[in-house]
Amino acid sequence: MKADIKDEQDIKLLVDTFYDKVNEDDLLSPVFNGFAQVNWEHHLPVMYSFWSSVLFGTMAYKGQPFPKHLRLPVERQHFARWVDLFTQTADSLFEGEKTQELKQKASSIAQVFQMKMGLIGVIGKELTA
Ligand code: HEM
Repeated sequence: MKADIKDEQDIKLLVDTFYDKVNEDDLLSPVFNGFAQVNWEHHLPVMYSFWSSVLFGTMAYKGQPFPKHLRLPVERQHFARWVDLFTQTADSLFEGEKTQELKQKASSIAQVFQMKMGLIGVIGKELTA
């Protein structure tokens, strides 16, 4: 039986493990490391604060996530992979109510991003079907 996510240290483990997988992923790594040239020393701490704000209401994250994604060369398959890797990472490390909440929030934010980018319609169908 795994423990639930309970503190900042757990969030750090989750985020670090997730982006290790992203960096090995054939679809996502080229976007992060090729197109966006992400500075990981900067990005990882931003993501710790983002998830601690989402899960624990710490208000540590002050940014606007969506605009950073608007110009990325991504399609529905990138989001599907992102959500898959995120869910796998969460399940490999934790279980419980917070973990469920984390996975739900991640996939609903991914849905909202895709709607705003015109990749999916409001009921999850492609706009250009
Ligand atoms: C196809 C999927 C995704 C890709 C390729 C992607 C890629 C990126 C990239 C390249 C950045 C900018 C990093 C930087 O240069 O600082 C970023 C930032 C960020 N992403 Fe994503 N992302 C994806 C999905 C998501 C999802 C689903 C979420 C939320 C659940 C998310 C949350 C964030 C946040 C909070 C930031 C930080 C924005 C800031 O600097 O304030 N991303 N992402």
